[in-house]
Amino acid sequence: MANETFLVTGAAGFVGSTLCARLLAEGHTILAVDSLTSYYDPKLKHRNMSLLREWPTFQHVCADVNDVAKTLDLSDVSKIIHLAAQPGVRASWGTEFTTYTRANILATQALLERSRSLPDLKAFVYASSSSVYGNALTHPTSETSATQPFSPYGVTKLAAEHLGSLYANNFGTPVRSLRFFTVYGPRQRPDMAFTRFFQHILDGDAIPVYGDGEQVREFTFVDDVVDAVCRAANMDLPNGVVMNVSGGSTVTLNNVIDLMRNDLGVKFDLNHLPETPGDVRRTGGTTDVIHALTGWTPQVPLIEGLSRQWDWAKGALVKNGC
Ligand code: NAD
Ligand code: UGA
Repeated sequence: MANETFLVTGAAGFVGSTLCARLLAEGHTILAVDSLTSYYDPKLKHRNMSLLREWPTFQHVCADVNDVAKTLDLSDVSKIIHLAAQPGVRASWGTEFTTYTRANILATQALLERSRSLPDLKAFVYASSSSVYGNALTHPTSETSATQPFSPYGVTKLAAEHLGSLYANNFGTPVRSLRFFTVYGPRQRPDMAFTRFFQHILDGDAIPVYGDGEQVREFTFVDDVVDAVCRAANMDLPNGVVMNVSGGSTVTLNNVIDLMRNDLGVKFDLNHLPETPGDVRRTGGTTDVIHALTGWTPQVPLIEGLSRQWDWAKGALVKNGC
């Protein structure tokens, strides 16, 4: 494929930096927009970008999407990958909701609006979330199932997905919304379960388990998510299409804990904490749509991905912080 210029928002984050590494290695040029928010330590985001910065084809604009969507020079950009967001299901209550609406809804609307002035834009990939389903009525959950978010975060991700659909329907904007299911792997955010577990283990502390540990997740390895994003950006797809990106590993948290003990051979105690508001009981998605349209299927089984994250954690996470 010819060298193309991608606008990647949220490029310094967990998924964004992994995606940029792949696109740069494939010979593409990246205009990265990331404001390095303090949701977690910006030092981690600088570290995520350190290797990316070595490429002359990587340029970082440290700015909020809301502030630059109108003015960025996008004359060379043929594809937009919009990953910037305030993530985190459990932190989205109370006054924090303002941050979620600005980062997740208003920024997406600003970028979609700007896209109207880019007639040659080939793809606008939006990072949606399994959180749009809430406590889904059926499992595995297909894209046509009811959306009934269970957290304020899920509400903002769904609102932005709806904005994408209406820009696609009204203006032909080439929006593709990908509903990621709990992504894990090297560089996973420090607020997410596996990184928190590994950090506590390295610190010699008991790992914090919310509720009874019987909640079910379909975990998706980050390289598989990145591959889905690349396929969605590079293939001819219906404007406004919505596709699950779910990793094929549907397990309880207690199953993961058993894998860590028995397969990774790690020793730790459990610290059972109350369930947290907004946490759904179960996720799991069908992948028939993305498979039919792009050929994507997840490649990395949970034990392999978990082992790769543990290897990363031993080098990247140090006692009492990063
Ligand atoms: P992340 O926090 O590591 O990355 C998001 C990046 O966006 C951060 O570096 C942050 O500084 C930046 N950012 C936030 N608001 C911004 C703004 N207004 N302008 C510019 N930059 C801004 O998160 P992640 O886990 O890599 O998630 C990436 C995307 O995937 C998000 O849209 C998230 O909602 C979605 N998603 C993630 C998961 C998951 O399990 N990680 C699952 C479903 C969906
Ligand atoms: C993840 C991401 O954080 C969201 O950004 C994303 O939108 C969502 O996936 C999604 O799929 O849509 P979550 O499933 O809560 O959200 O992912 P984790 O933070 O890794 O939590 C997984 C499970 O572990 C949850 O049930 C959570 O309650 C539990 N957990 C988490 C713990 O028991 N202890 C912890 O310290 C952290």
